[in-house]
Amino acid sequence: MPSQSPQWQVTCRHPLIGAEVRGVSLRLPLDAQTLGWLHSLWMKHLVLIFPDQSISDEEHIAFGRHFGELEIHPSVSHRSSTNKEIYRVSNVGEDGSIIEERASAWQYINLSWLWHTDSSFRQIPSKGSILHGIETTTNGGHTKFANMYAAYEDLSSEQKHALEGLKVIHDHDFIIKQSKELSSREDKGSYVQLPPVSHPLVQRHPITGRPSLFLSPHTMVCIEGMPEASSRKLLDELIAHAIQPKYVYRHIWRNHDVIMWDNRCTMHSVEPFDNNSIRRIMHRVTLEGEAAPVAA
Ligand code: OGA
Ligand code: MN
Repeated sequence: MPSQSPQWQVTCRHPLIGAEVRGVSLRLPLDAQTLGWLHSLWMKHLVLIFPDQSISDEEHIAFGRHFGELEIHPSVSHRSSTNKEIYRVSNVGEDGSIIEERASAWQYINLSWLWHTDSSFRQIPSKGSILHGIETTTNGGHTKFANMYAAYEDLSSEQKHALEGLKVIHDHDFIIKQSKELSSREDKGSYVQLPPVSHPLVQRHPITGRPSLFLSPHTMVCIEGMPEASSRKLLDELIAHAIQPKYVYRHIWRNHDVIMWDNRCTMHSVEPFDNNSIRRIMHRVTLEGEAAPVAA
């Protein structure tokens, strides 16, 4: 069986991560063969970019469900009021106007500017996310994706040995702590409370079997059982290593790009933009993971 449909045009956007796929409509129901092709492309390139997919939220949800159950985001005010599976990564409210700088919802969305993987704060993190750029930006607001397999592979054998068996505490509350402004407020926003969880620092991908670094700087509190200063130092070194341009695809959005990424072997961040005056509306569905991460 070919790994993709002969009618699709697949173009790599970076040597290590990200491919553009043209010739498929995300709007149509997908048969098992098409789904198999998409899935194998996804596993190969980690991030798939589908340009010109002007889908409705309902079509977005239906596309996501082909790959599994969908998460509901813990931040209540970022869920769409019409479809709770849609997480609104946006500085524009549902009333169509830019959210006031002082609002907690605005402060929270700014935290996606930090490197992270989605739902790393869950016992079973998300396996992937699908983001639809509805109103995109040209001046900032680009999204970067890092290949965490490659970042791990390039470590020396001594470094790999030193990471063996290490576990990291991840906590949703830690995201809020990253914002001085938000954490000092009484009204930090409304979130479903989730307890801290522990995940391996090096995980094995359940489908490809490949090891990767599992970093999510915005939820990583510390390495279990390690003094705080050395834990912070090691995590910061690994983050700096993993976000080198050689591992990173930087996506400049066009309206109605849809991007699907694998949270089990990538991390991402949004480049800052002037979110007091530039509108940016992105809708995301988030695929539930199937099992807690396994140490490699
Ligand atoms: C996300 C996120 C990326 C973006 O949707 O998970 O972090 O480009 N946002 O807005
Ligand atoms: Mn994200």
